[in-house]
Amino acid sequence: MSVTVLVGAQFGDEGKGKVVDYLSADMDMVVRFQGGDNAGHTVVNEHGTFKLHLIPCGIFKKGCKALANTGMVINPDELLKEIDQIEAQGVDTSNLFISMRAIILMPYHIELDKLSESSGRTGIGTTKRGIGYAYADRARRNALRFEDLLDPEYCEKRVRSIMPTINAEVVAKGGKEFTAEEIIEKTRYWAERLKNRIVEPVSFVNNAINRGEKILFEGQLGAMKDIDLGIYPYVTSSNPVAAYAAVSGGFPISKISEIVGVMKAFSSAVGDGPFPTEMETELADGFRGKGDQIDDEFGARTGRARRLGWLDLPIVKYAATINGFTALAVCKIDKLDTYKEIKVCVGYKLDGKEIDYMPSARDLYKVEPVYVTMEGWLQSTKGVRKYEDLPENAQKYISLIEEYTGVKVKYIGVGPARDEIIVK
Ligand code: GDP
Ligand code: IMO
Ligand code: MG
Repeated sequence: MSVTVLVGAQFGDEGKGKVVDYLSADMDMVVRFQGGDNAGHTVVNEHGTFKLHLIPCGIFKKGCKALANTGMVINPDELLKEIDQIEAQGVDTSNLFISMRAIILMPYHIELDKLSESSGRTGIGTTKRGIGYAYADRARRNALRFEDLLDPEYCEKRVRSIMPTINAEVVAKGGKEFTAEEIIEKTRYWAERLKNRIVEPVSFVNNAINRGEKILFEGQLGAMKDIDLGIYPYVTSSNPVAAYAAVSGGFPISKISEIVGVMKAFSSAVGDGPFPTEMETELADGFRGKGDQIDDEFGARTGRARRLGWLDLPIVKYAATINGFTALAVCKIDKLDTYKEIKVCVGYKLDGKEIDYMPSARDLYKVEPVYVTMEGWLQSTKGVRKYEDLPENAQKYISLIEEYTGVKVKYIGVGPARDEIIVK
């Protein structure tokens, strides 16, 4: 039995795509289990450079099944675009499957998200991909699922029954009504193009587990953006934590054997919300780059400049607590190569007193980070492939992460490409 779940340990964009691509060499199946095309998972390998939004990053491994599972909200137009794009780059997608229970993200979800964000009242800074509205429709039982595409008559009836509610909301927000016909036409097109990929997911996953296949569940975003455990309301609308892979996948949680937390060697976030270790503009600009390199700090989905900060260990420890990491992957250590001094947050003070828990967003705005200053290593780590060859101060940095979080670091990223990794 080998089920590994890999999730983000900070605010998202930690380098999950790169690590999934690396680990998939050993996998029979890679599964996305929450979120939608708000994700941007960067992969640099022998096929080229990709920013995947919906397709699991295991798609590049020959023979590996890639499942977009229950728990996801999937925009079929975006999925088809992504399939066409990567096929044009020579990648075989015949092993890509979609759960019949996954939610269909509709054009009106995107419109509602855009209208809300542009009203300036939400203050969340979403990706405007309709994610929150698709999950809201799931909760109020107004959503369509991929299984509905397989029964055109039923699908048409469902669309006609929900459109008045949807349109009332669109119009109330100042948007233009959608016709049932245009949505029905889309569902017919999606059915035509995607029907052969739709599977019954519980048997698909459990049978693979029982056959002893190696399965990797690929999380989207990170712990601090979890709808229940993150910095509510500046969060996404799903649970990017390891246990949710089992909840949405319909397999026993006891089957999970490894939980890998992916973190950056510093911190980044897009969108609004508290960010205790955020750097002042000048320093952040140096870290971010100009946007002409694949690993510069601009959102892989929206292109927005990412907010940047020093490593915040209370956040990584919190992520370890709620996920139960068995290993950490630390990406982008190479991005610290040129800094003489590196600050690391090792605690928070709230109203002058150190606290030992992760406060909610309201208080996180008020905390004062407690820093230690580490000596930098001032040499390139990009070509390093063995842990012993890392500069001594870089090793000390890794040791601090391990000691603080109580989790062993197993992978260290020293560049964006698949092979730019150290296995410790
Ligand atoms: P994800 O959303 O967690 O998959 O992360 P993103 O792909 O959105 O952002 C991570 C960024 O860091 C991408 O630009 C990657 O190419 C890059 N990256 C990942 N690991 C490393 C690393 O070890 N070193 C460097 N320099 N870049 C990395
Ligand atoms: P990956 O998978 C970084 C952020 C948005 C916003 C909040 C809610 O690449 O790590 P949403 O569109 O989900 O309703 O927006 O979450 N956000 C991300 N930030 N990386 C992502 O994905 C993100 N997906 C959503 O900026 O703050
Ligand atoms: Mg990303």
